[in-house]
Amino acid sequence: MSQVDDDFISNPTTNPHFSEVLDAAIARRTVLIGGVALAATTFLPTSVAQAAERAPAQGGPLLGFTGIPVSSADTVVVPPGYSAKVLISWGDPISNGPAFAPDASNSAAEQEQQWGMHNDAMHFFPLTGRGADGDDPGRGRGPSVRRGLLVQNHEYSDDVLLFPDGTANWDAAKTAKSLAAHGVSVIELRWRRGEWSIVRPSRYARRITGSTPCAIAGPAAGHELLRTSADPTGRRVLGTLNNCSMGHTPMGHTPWGTYLACEENFNGYFRVDRTPTALEARYGLSAAGFGYLWHTTDTRFQVDVEPNEPNRFGWVTEFDPFDPRSTPTKRTALGRFKHEGSWVVETASKRVVVYSGDDEQNEYVYRYVSNRPWPEAFRRGRHPLDDGILYAGRFNADGTGEWLPLTFGQGPLVAPAFTSQADVLVRARQAADALGATRMDRPEWIDVDLETGFVYCTLTNNSRRGTEPPGPSRPPVDAANPRPNNVYGHIVRWQYRRDYDEPTFRWEIFALAGDPAVPATGSTIVGDKYGSPDGIYVSPQGRLWIQTDVSGSTIGTGAYAGFGNNQMLCADPTTRETRRFLVGPNVCEITGVVVTPDERTMFVGIQHPGEAPTGVNDPADPKRYSSWPEGPAGGRPRSSTVIVTKDDGGVIGT
Ligand code: FEO
Ligand code: CA
Ligand code: CA
Repeated sequence: MSQVDDDFISNPTTNPHFSEVLDAAIARRTVLIGGVALAATTFLPTSVAQAAERAPAQGGPLLGFTGIPVSSADTVVVPPGYSAKVLISWGDPISNGPAFAPDASNSAAEQEQQWGMHNDAMHFFPLTGRGADGDDPGRGRGPSVRRGLLVQNHEYSDDVLLFPDGTANWDAAKTAKSLAAHGVSVIELRWRRGEWSIVRPSRYARRITGSTPCAIAGPAAGHELLRTSADPTGRRVLGTLNNCSMGHTPMGHTPWGTYLACEENFNGYFRVDRTPTALEARYGLSAAGFGYLWHTTDTRFQVDVEPNEPNRFGWVTEFDPFDPRSTPTKRTALGRFKHEGSWVVETASKRVVVYSGDDEQNEYVYRYVSNRPWPEAFRRGRHPLDDGILYAGRFNADGTGEWLPLTFGQGPLVAPAFTSQADVLVRARQAADALGATRMDRPEWIDVDLETGFVYCTLTNNSRRGTEPPGPSRPPVDAANPRPNNVYGHIVRWQYRRDYDEPTFRWEIFALAGDPAVPATGSTIVGDKYGSPDGIYVSPQGRLWIQTDVSGSTIGTGAYAGFGNNQMLCADPTTRETRRFLVGPNVCEITGVVVTPDERTMFVGIQHPGEAPTGVNDPADPKRYSSWPEGPAGGRPRSSTVIVTKDDGGVIGT
């Protein structure tokens, strides 16, 4: 099934009209691409952050490993001196629950106790010694590398591989299992006998699924657009869906330290049989969906019956991983769109700044800033993610940028076009359209290098940009999205003068992806080739990890011939030198990465090995494209998280 087909467009605007400044954009691009040193000295000459010297990496050089070649082998490849070992796979029990059935015959109730399908982004929350005593989870009280919680999203399910007979004979039990394969997992890890193992049973182990009761909070909670026949209050919803990337809130001495699961391609679960409304069309709702059959057994996924149910998805869902009974809560102040993730950084005054990409062709980058320092917000009884301003990004051709507030009553966000702040947040895409935000080449992950203040954003690719090849709804190239038909994608980064909540910024292109050995690809990579960057993660010591998501239909073909399977690379953010560190098995995506605080253990997500290039597998031949991780002895390919360690116990990357 092709449940995660991102290759469509819902943005009909012409934001912004960059064609008149195209010449300037091209000139600018030449400077950006050609002169790393020039860019480094041209931007932010008064920046406090940039003036700071990067502290030397501990335990070895920033990039000390031997880069590996591309691979098309059905296995995980890492550099000499490193090992990768599977920690957990789809269907494994998260606590002392039932074992995985290799023929996929586990029931929905069993799946609710097992690791979900198609794991995506994750975070590692250390547990301290006090936490080990069971009376204090010890958030931020000094990290332990011997015990922690791994929290990971399950973005979507391949419903052909989820059942012995695929999608045939679809019924309510199949809908229930598919919903149970979505959501988030929490597992407890302990360092024992020189390696990490899963604690079973664990009082922290938890599954949140597409059926888990969740709350809705913030300015849009209770709005008429969020009310359904099952929830006339507009404040309660079942489940969080298509949890792609994530975020985590500051870990301080006050009780915060939560996990943010973001809802990306939620539209694909819903079926609209009539002509979609303008709102539905703008969020990609259609009769086609992504092939899910939930609507055939559950009317909440039939938009004709429950027109507001889709409005209850596309949010950021927060929960406390240290409290398995906590209610996941959708934070509507962060806006509704295809949230790739929600990366949180604090200002000097402890305001929280949250970045999100809307991953669809020609959509926007968003930033949220809390109105108050987060400890003060809690003291006043206001949640810091419920009380703040959402902005959409405009990337100007001269290398400057600005954040445009999605505030009702300001600029074009007034009646009759918009009716309230809640309306602006539910229809955030239309609000950003009206503000003239910059249409980007599919914003995926964003992360912040706290040492330099650079914020990095991957723009994975965009086949609907520029005039070649001709087609509908193609914005012209612009400075921040400089390539027509951008098949390889690129990475931008921006920086402020002093702090993350400033209204303007300076941006530059960190790398145009492709093959630097083939000038026709236009790549500016300094080192190993890659394309379709998706995950990006700045480790505590400042290594820039880049993960790729070349679609299954494209891997090894056309522009991607010779690029091998999807991979993870490590870049030095100062020199931009980039080395390939890991290559995944066949037809997988590499997504999700985090290190323990000592950087000596890395967790890496391997998603959808063996997904059919057509998007539709054959239930009679589930191992046709991959049999990873078990190999021929296994029943079917399984999304998994692997642990990467250095054989000498050293820091990952050295
Ligand atoms: Fe789920 Fe945009 O990746
Ligand atoms: Ca992604
Ligand atoms: Ca992607």
